[in-house]
Amino acid sequence: MGLPADGAFVVGALEGPELLPSAKDVDARLSGALARALESGRFRGKKDQVLSLPAPHGLSATRVVLLGLGKADALSPLTLQESGGALAVHLNRAGEKKASIACDPVGGKTPDEVGANLLFGASLRAYRFDKYRTKQKEEDKPTLETLIALSPDPAATAEAFKPLESVAEGVLFARDLVSEPSNNKYPEKLAERLSALADVGVDIEVLKAERLRELGMGSLLSVGQGSARAPCLVVMRWMGAPEDTAPLAFVGKGVTFDTGGISLKPAQGMEDMKYDMAGAAAVSGLMRALAGRKARVNAVGVVGLAENMPSGTASRPGDVVTSMSGQTIEIVNTDAEGRLVLADTLWYAQDRFKPRFMIDLATLTGAIVVSLGSYQAGLFSNNDELAERIVRAGRAVGERAWRMPLAKAYDKDINSEIADVKNVGKGREAGSIAGAQFLQRFVNKTPWAHIDIAGMAWAKKDMPLVPTGASGFGVRLLDRFIADHTEA
Ligand code: BES
Ligand code: MN
Ligand code: ZN
Repeated sequence: MGLPADGAFVVGALEGPELLPSAKDVDARLSGALARALESGRFRGKKDQVLSLPAPHGLSATRVVLLGLGKADALSPLTLQESGGALAVHLNRAGEKKASIACDPVGGKTPDEVGANLLFGASLRAYRFDKYRTKQKEEDKPTLETLIALSPDPAATAEAFKPLESVAEGVLFARDLVSEPSNNKYPEKLAERLSALADVGVDIEVLKAERLRELGMGSLLSVGQGSARAPCLVVMRWMGAPEDTAPLAFVGKGVTFDTGGISLKPAQGMEDMKYDMAGAAAVSGLMRALAGRKARVNAVGVVGLAENMPSGTASRPGDVVTSMSGQTIEIVNTDAEGRLVLADTLWYAQDRFKPRFMIDLATLTGAIVVSLGSYQAGLFSNNDELAERIVRAGRAVGERAWRMPLAKAYDKDINSEIADVKNVGKGREAGSIAGAQFLQRFVNKTPWAHIDIAGMAWAKKDMPLVPTGASGFGVRLLDRFIADHTEA
């Protein structure tokens, strides 16, 4: 596969360290310099360990980078992606513009899989949202521009990378939307951004407030009624399977900013609520991924967009609204607005599209962060098989979901004295379950799962595939779920 003429040359090692063939090759060319460096340092080839040898005599590369891949039997697409992420961080720190990775077969993986997964991980981890920085110092800017996978069969490696590249584009699209400040992503503006997905083949429909009124979406509309920005709903369709196969529906909470409304949130940390549309962003990113890789599936994404503001026109605690389903809702707390948005969005999705099943993503409750922290999302479902498949897909891609219960007893807690249902349960008790029980009243008989991503939407620290900030959580999980269960 030849040696790169410039930039960094990346070769791999397993834990031991045990140099992979390309690494041995390089070591021989450098008269054992790599082996000597290994003896004097701490590098053991553990996953994500990196050893850098600058300006090696005898090679035209700027440096040789030895990338630790861990134990052969623990190697998986996910660990390779994480190694790619660690590599991207290292190269940017070193100030490299370009790097070429020698892809050897390892741990039962072909060079094509190795290369594709390393590149995928690097592109996820190297993400930055720099749109609003005007005074960035040169030395703070990331340098890495080009990453090349060198393999025996470049065409096959490119082929292996193609679907992953589309998924990465979906994740980055979602992250961009979530990172955007709320003055620049009010509902109709966000709908406009989603309309750009038409370019990759997603069919887009925007339902403006007037249409939502005709449809009787009193619940969704009530959330936006205190804002100067009208709510709306966006339907995204990717039809990659025969017309007559019922679609899967993906529904997202798109609260473009959540002040809490009249039940106002405390000032401390309120700025975080710009990411209260992360569910909608993940659904949109998923649609982009599916269209990009031409997935053999019929999928509909439906996102309800509204801004939750306090004002003279805002809804009051105690107000009763009528949802599209016909059920009346007592709004006890205007800060439990996500479920009000989803009540009409879920109902609309099942009513219009008669999906095989429906999965919603929402930054629904602070309580799920108390329960599960920022390591797993909360998963609720009325269907065991669906839940099991989501859990498995999550494990495979490292976007975990933990099943939480639904039960009649909890459902009783949301009965209202004055209306069919109220939007909160028993105060601080079982808050995430109360939210899920509320949603369940609006899914009709459809097999459904709800993923509460309040703790996952925003990374507070760097993770192997997610730099601090918007995570795009849910795109990889649902893409994998679809690939495993509806395309296979
Ligand atoms: N958007 C919030 C939930 C949230 C909290 C998302 C933290 C991300 C991080 C949601 O609309 C909300 O305010 N939920 C309330 C519900 C309560 C009033 C029943 C909550 O969790 O406090
Ligand atoms: Mn809220
Ligand atoms: Zn919210």
